Amino acid sequence: MEKKNIDWAGLGFGYIKTDYRFVSNYKNGAWDEGILTQEANVVMNECAGVLQYAQTVFEGMKAYTTTDGRIVTFRPDLNAERMEQSAARLEMPVYPRDKFVEAVLKTVKANGAYVPPYGSGATLYVRPFMFGSDSVIGVKPSEEYQFRVFTTPVGPYFKGGVRPLTIRVCDFDRAAPRGTGHIKAGLNYAMSLHAIMDAHQQGYDENMYLDAATRTKVEETGGANFLFVTRDGKVVTPKSDSILPSITRRSLVQVAREYLGLEAQEREVYAKELGEFAECGLCGTAAVISPVGKIVDHGKEIIFPSGMEQMGPVTKKLYDTLTGIQMGTIKAPEGWVVEI
Ligand code: PLP
Ligand code: COI
Repeated sequence: MEKKNIDWAGLGFGYIKTDYRFVSNYKNGAWDEGILTQEANVVMNECAGVLQYAQTVFEGMKAYTTTDGRIVTFRPDLNAERMEQSAARLEMPVYPRDKFVEAVLKTVKANGAYVPPYGSGATLYVRPFMFGSDSVIGVKPSEEYQFRVFTTPVGPYFKGGVRPLTIRVCDFDRAAPRGTGHIKAGLNYAMSLHAIMDAHQQGYDENMYLDAATRTKVEETGGANFLFVTRDGKVVTPKSDSILPSITRRSLVQVAREYLGLEAQEREVYAKELGEFAECGLCGTAAVISPVGKIVDHGKEIIFPSGMEQMGPVTKKLYDTLTGIQMGTIKAPEGWVVEI
């Protein structure tokens, strides 16, 4: 297939309209079959549930070109499962998991000309999402919904590619105990916009959110989970009911244990122990693993031994192994890589 004429290596993390998107509507208690369409705009009533009460959930995943030219996605079944959990928490109907995966594969296939070539450093980001589309003025769930999947070719999430980030411990909270931090709902991102703009204004790349109840434990950033490496080479990642269960993080824990033979701990991580780690990274579909060089906690600077120039050695091994699995140079565990 002939690829579009795009400067793949120059792409940042932005929206570029591709040719097709998948759309399915939910009405009278059932989803329709869904179609691929070229229409990128959505028209709905001014009183739609999503516009008034933010009734919307989404997913983020990527399609990759492997070394031998195949197009693959990474663990789409887990995105389908998480979207089901997100929808249930916001009283939205579930989009069936098998149909979700089918819709993702169909949309990627239809936009094959936009899947960046192997080795370009870019990937095709896939955004499945769902929203309440009929009018609700009293606070209640919508009765009608739309499920969509669009794609956009992307480069690195953070400007400057793989350069260690500087982040700050944030004074705003992201998620309440027993709230919605564990689901992928638009509302969790709307509330983070002020905090991220404020962080950028003050020269930081990202916010480290702490647990809202005690403000002593590390949670996550606005769009990625944390991964730490201890000075004796153990991988540590925060465990919390109010962070998003990152598919990248869960995969990396398995990669650390089964591919690299490292000990990996999922446990509570206290802000006061940050200075004891050797490496730190942010992990997620968009972030992949972005190294953190420095954390600033109210004037106190924690500079990781891995420094501000490059990824730490263990982080690099994790990064190379994960991306090798995704791009087909390393054998994937059963079911992780799904070919289009
Ligand atoms: N945490 C937040 C808040 C996110 O938005 C994301 C992105 O999806 C992640 C973590 C990483 O999750 P995943 O690895 O499933 O993309
Ligand atoms: C993703 O990693 O897919 C996300 O949704 C995070 C977002 C901040 C782009």
